[in-house]
Amino acid sequence: MTSAFREPRIDEAYCVTLAEPDDFEGWRDYARRLVMAEVPPDRVIWDAPDGLGGSSGGDLFATNGSDKRLPVPAANTPQPRASRDFVTLAKKAILHSDPARFALLYRLLWRLQGNPRVLEDRADSDVRRIEELARTVRRDSHKMHAFVRFRVVEEEGGADHYVAWFEPEHHIVRANAGFFVNRFTNMRWSILTPRGSLHWDGETLREGPPAQRGDAPEGDPAEDLWKRYYASIFNPARLKIGAMLKEMPKRYWKNMPEAALIPDLIAGAQAREAAMVAAGEREEAPRPATLPAITDALDACRRCPIGSLDNRAVAGEGPRDALLMIVGEQPGDQEDRAGRPFVGPAGQLLDAHLIDAGIERGAAYVTNAVKHFKFTQQSTPVSRGPGKRRLHQSPTAKEIDICRWWLEGERELVKPRVVLALGASAARSLLGKTVSVQKERGRPLALADGSELWITTHPSYLLRLDDAARASEEQRFAADLRAVALRVAELA
Ligand code: URA
Repeated sequence: MTSAFREPRIDEAYCVTLAEPDDFEGWRDYARRLVMAEVPPDRVIWDAPDGLGGSSGGDLFATNGSDKRLPVPAANTPQPRASRDFVTLAKKAILHSDPARFALLYRLLWRLQGNPRVLEDRADSDVRRIEELARTVRRDSHKMHAFVRFRVVEEEGGADHYVAWFEPEHHIVRANAGFFVNRFTNMRWSILTPRGSLHWDGETLREGPPAQRGDAPEGDPAEDLWKRYYASIFNPARLKIGAMLKEMPKRYWKNMPEAALIPDLIAGAQAREAAMVAAGEREEAPRPATLPAITDALDACRRCPIGSLDNRAVAGEGPRDALLMIVGEQPGDQEDRAGRPFVGPAGQLLDAHLIDAGIERGAAYVTNAVKHFKFTQQSTPVSRGPGKRRLHQSPTAKEIDICRWWLEGERELVKPRVVLALGASAARSLLGKTVSVQKERGRPLALADGSELWITTHPSYLLRLDDAARASEEQRFAADLRAVALRVAELA
């Protein structure tokens, strides 16, 4: 299919049909020309095939053909500006299967022309959406890397050809071809998916049409060997069932020979872990040396029991060289769902106060003392809707102390000059002992690495107060943040 462009009638949008669902270059070329011709986002309808034999449904009018009738930008119109961060995010986000992704990217590109810092506004709904799309795509790629399993097929002439079946949720197949070529350079292989296929003959990569499950072979003798190997490397001390199900959803299990072993291995895990501990085998892994590596490693953490609940790790976020680090207690329900710190009610209150104090949240590194959400589950009466509510539980001092290992890792890498602890759990994590927030707030304390610790109350505490108490406590909170803002400005 070729890209298509049709000139709009009055009151109608320009219709752009991209050649492929992951056609970043095509999108970029059209988007550039449309921005240069000053066509606003609400005058463009984007469409592309959906990779499964249909279209994403965005364009009812587009026709295939040339792009001769693209609006012509005025002579000497400068090229649109797009930061490297935007391009990186856009290249990932375009692989998502959301039909609205092209329009979102164009809207952001359009907005970047007026406000080059638009991506720094983490509360902006477009910014949050593009980040979410990129995150989901990264996750899908990660699953493809981890869960593709080859079966051996003998070709005519006796050579082995390895064939795998995989079902991606997004348009990630082409983008991940390089990974498999690098990893399995010396094999002849095919990866078949409902969104298209890849074939490598040891020298050349070819793309093929979508395939069906039945096109790939079922199990082969190599599986027994692999299963035995998997059972021998399975480490019960690292078992985390919630995360495992999240990372390795059951729908992938049918394509993975080792999955057949998992129920039995889980059942035996506790006994094997006890045996390992008794034998003193519990080894300490070194701490990851970069922030992305910490983020990746956190989800597998089970240094304390909180990580074994059905939750996900919420890593810190913010610039690698932030002057200010803000530390909360632990992610809540909404943070756990979003995978980002301070996005729920407490986060919104914090954001409002940061703005009032003149602290730019995007310039700070925001994290928590404990990286997983600790909760108890409470059944909801049927009349109040389905499901179970997850009720926040405070981490114990021991859990805070155990999780300090991660916060120390973040502090070593970011090296903030000022650390703001929100509430007693954060203060404990930073000082290694419990202190009174009311006594210690409003003035800097020295930390061993030479940075300053400022302590104030946690925004969740403010949310729990009645109106009168809240008004006066919020004033104190605001004053604490202003003092921090002043100090950060001095150091800057
Ligand atoms: N409360 C916290 O302490 N951290 C969050 O990320 C959210 C709520």
